[in-house]
Amino acid sequence: MSSAHITFDTTGDKIARRVRKMRPSAVRNLFAAATRDDVISLSGGMPAVSLLPVEDVRRATLAAIETERARAVSLQYGPTDGLVGLRAVLADMMRDLGIRVKPEQLLVTSGAQQALTLIAEAFIDPGDIIITEGPTYLGALQAFSAFEPDVRAIPFDDEGMRMDLLEAELKRIGKNNPRLKFCYTIPNFQNPGGVTMTAERRRRLLELAAEYNFMVVEDDPYGRLRYDGGHQVPLKAMDDSVIYLGTISKMLGPGLRTGWVAAPEAVLARINLVKQGADLCGSAFDQLIVQHYFADIPWQRTLQKFIGVYKERRDTMLAALEEFFPPEARWTHPEGGMFLWITLPDYMDTDSMLAEALEAGVTYVPGNSFFPDGVTGKNSMRVNFSFETPESITEAVRRLAGVIEERLELYRVFINAGALPGYGKEAVMAENERENWDEVIVASEENEEAVMQSHDGDAAQIEIAEQKVAEAQEEAAE
Ligand SMILES: Cc1ncc(COP(=O)(O)O)c(C=O)c1O
Repeated sequence: MSSAHITFDTTGDKIARRVRKMRPSAVRNLFAAATRDDVISLSGGMPAVSLLPVEDVRRATLAAIETERARAVSLQYGPTDGLVGLRAVLADMMRDLGIRVKPEQLLVTSGAQQALTLIAEAFIDPGDIIITEGPTYLGALQAFSAFEPDVRAIPFDDEGMRMDLLEAELKRIGKNNPRLKFCYTIPNFQNPGGVTMTAERRRRLLELAAEYNFMVVEDDPYGRLRYDGGHQVPLKAMDDSVIYLGTISKMLGPGLRTGWVAAPEAVLARINLVKQGADLCGSAFDQLIVQHYFADIPWQRTLQKFIGVYKERRDTMLAALEEFFPPEARWTHPEGGMFLWITLPDYMDTDSMLAEALEAGVTYVPGNSFFPDGVTGKNSMRVNFSFETPESITEAVRRLAGVIEERLELYRVFINAGALPGYGKEAVMAENERENWDEVIVASEENEEAVMQSHDGDAAQIEIAEQKVAEAQEEAAE
């Protein structure tokens, strides 16, 4: 036997150039850290699958395996577009949302995540321009980044993506620019922002798409998780040229990797080609379970249960933020979904603060993870309210407020001494809607008292926490 062995340089030029540029997902790395018993995780986007009735899941699974006929489908290769029966069920379900599509206008994917990759592969050449909300779903940024687009992130406010800023960006890009490919948007309870695009902005987006000649990709994993307010008509229902992405992950469970794309047939044909190369076809077993679940089981009952539980958790989180967070912080008020977005003064850095948060026993996702440059949004964070119990949410917010308060305290000293350019007392008072400086101090001291008991963030502890984050990241990378 030869004593020579192949050494493979995993950092060097054997790795594809586009992959060398890809960044690891902060969320996936955090999953490893969040499994520690003493840490409350506000970082994931996991549905509370423990709410699923076991009997319903068992019935749907048995139906997919029980008979020879079922096994001939579920254990076999299937069509690249997905099982015909499932596509019919999904087309039917989309009618409740106001979307009319035929089963042949749908293609089933391994979660909406695969749809994002397939769309990117089918449409993006290096340097092509993609528009997203800024911040946006980081899994989409990861899927797109492999194909090296030039991503333009458009800020949102409480009414969704800012159409005035989009229009200004489009003017810079120019009409009929062949590099401009699509706008990717999450109009309902956006991940990570929690905001919903108004009907007026939806109409305007479609007008701009027609005027500037780009496709619209509507990603709607959370649309059915609405806790207040009225249903918003999907973009796809307003214009059938929209590419719509659906998933069962938040209504049933992400373990059954099943999502879908609804798009004009010419677009689907391209996506189908790319999918053949990716996996030939998705898991027929997963698909048949999902088909039975949505065709034979009163799934709306379980959806209502999810809605009830998540609404309570969202309300708990909003109440805890009101109670514990310092006056300098702002946050969105989502009408549904799983996340809200917290903005701190722009001198704060949530990325470096994560080590202190982990030490205090709470995780969140730093805001910069959701921007294509990995830098913007450092003063913000995404927090999840679907997974933890109300008691844990309250405790997590209390711990997080303590961590923030400690950092703010330091900055207040700088501001007070006039040592932070652009942050005079006037600016801080205006930002906090306080009449005078003492009110800012009193409000923050009250908060501090309420939240500080559990936290002691000296330098040594920060170092230990940083070490833990590094270890967790290494573990996650393995
Ligand atoms: C906006 C958005 N799109 C897509 C996905 C991926 O979903 P799936 O589990 O269907 O792949 C997620 C998951 O959290 C998401 O938040």
